[in-house]
Amino acid sequence: MAELNGQFYEDVLWVKHWTDRLFSFKIARPPSFRFRSGEFVMIGLPREEGKPIMRAYSIASPSYAEELEFLSIKVADGPLTSKLQLIQPGDKVLMGKKPTGTLVHDALKPGKRLFMFSTGTGLAPFLSVARDPETYEKFEKVIVTHTVRDVAELAYRDLWERELFEDELIGEEARKQFLYYPSVTRENFVRQGRITTLIENGQIFRDLNLGIEGFNPEEDRAMMCGSMAMIQDVAALMEKAGLEEGSNASPGDYVIERAFVG
Ligand code: A2P
Repeated sequence: MAELNGQFYEDVLWVKHWTDRLFSFKIARPPSFRFRSGEFVMIGLPREEGKPIMRAYSIASPSYAEELEFLSIKVADGPLTSKLQLIQPGDKVLMGKKPTGTLVHDALKPGKRLFMFSTGTGLAPFLSVARDPETYEKFEKVIVTHTVRDVAELAYRDLWERELFEDELIGEEARKQFLYYPSVTRENFVRQGRITTLIENGQIFRDLNLGIEGFNPEEDRAMMCGSMAMIQDVAALMEKAGLEEGSNASPGDYVIERAFVG
């Protein structure tokens, strides 16, 4: 088994650049590595000298996947991403051994609808959770929202709008239960505005035909991942509606995780 500095040391298999700010990559899955859909892990690059710089990355693959996919921003002077954005298939990446995180089923009470609210690379854990069969067993409706500045940053649109419904494992459930809700804030798009605005003015509930006008603490559960500001503002809306934050130790109605930055 490939290891370096006490970390997994794995081959890069695939890289895709979405925009000059956003890219995805896949690495080989170490056979002994287990994780729960929605968890994050430390990712880094080996360095000639000194300790490697490691950053938290949500695993975008579901727990049964044979390869591990990640979604990353590119920061020109970012200690890790300035170099990570240059990786090519065949290069090596370090991965920590302990996946962890709160965007998991274990941290949520049972419910009827699962909302997954994301901005930017905060979409990553929901690529995992929304492809896990357990999600469709536990919830009647599964909703992924993704808000970005520009249309080009709506990464994985083809997956959400087509591939998911054709998936051998969860396609049938997804066709009945899954809803994708993208919005763009700084460019023309069919749906514009921050998710907070779309919740507050009730547009999301009308657009998705959910038969509700706001969140119901008895039925709605949520996960949030993305910018700190978005998480805080959506959490405030949840609290106002009577939903309570959960954790692995004490499951609740919503859970949060800040997306990796820098
Ligand atoms: P906006 O363009 O109005 O700032 P970023 O690229 O900075 O991480 O932002 C990603 C998306 O998150 C943008 O569309 C941005 O909208 C939105 N956003 C930023 N802050 C908030 C917030 N407090 N509540 C909801 N959405 C937010």
